[in-house]
Amino acid sequence: MQVYGLVNTAVADLARTVGGEPAWQAICAHAQVPPVAFVGMTGYPDDVTYRLVDGASAVLGLTPEQVLVAFGRHWVHYTAEQGWGPLLQAAGGSLPEVLGGLDALHARVRLLMPDLRPPSFRCVELTPTTLRLDYWSDRPGLAPMVVGLVEGLAELLGGTATAVLVQAAADGHDHDTFAVEHAPAPP
Ligand code: HEM
Repeated sequence: MQVYGLVNTAVADLARTVGGEPAWQAICAHAQVPPVAFVGMTGYPDDVTYRLVDGASAVLGLTPEQVLVAFGRHWVHYTAEQGWGPLLQAAGGSLPEVLGGLDALHARVRLLMPDLRPPSFRCVELTPTTLRLDYWSDRPGLAPMVVGLVEGLAELLGGTATAVLVQAAADGHDHDTFAVEHAPAPP
């Protein structure tokens, strides 16, 4: 499977933000990836991205899970900077609204990235401050990234959230389920 280079440029941007250019170069060396500039709209093998995550883990002294959480948090800011902000804004003003609209959002992204292999999400509001988020993916091991995405998204909307994996595809289920607690932006 391939993934758009935008994901790898986001990893590079996160690495440079945390440890500057030397950190990014060291991560590429560890991942055995030539330190060339990735092209956002070009496809690269998924394996390259997984290796970069492992490289970031080794170089930055974080677990791969911590790298994925940090990456998820970074993604929402990075995509906004890269011109995708209006699309995200159009997806809604509250966390449940945006999470409930993620499949529609990725469907719109796909208009510009026709080879996109997006995940699928279902959001069920349980109380005004809790929700259940189901996540189906063709790619293994990305649950920690979803945790970071949800938390980063909540902060982008001016509020806060915590997401906990309560049922894992890694344990034999056909998808991941998260329990999310959130507080909206203060009025
Ligand atoms: C406008 C903002 C966004 C853009 C442009 C975008 C685009 C993308 C792209 C290019 C990929 C890589 C998949 C591929 O190349 O086949 C991806 C994957 C993914 N996206 Fe988004 N996305 C956006 C927002 C979000 C948000 C807000 C969330 C969740 C809160 C999210 C969740 C994910 C996840 C979990 C994946 C991993 C792929 C997988 O599980 O297979 N995305 N997205």
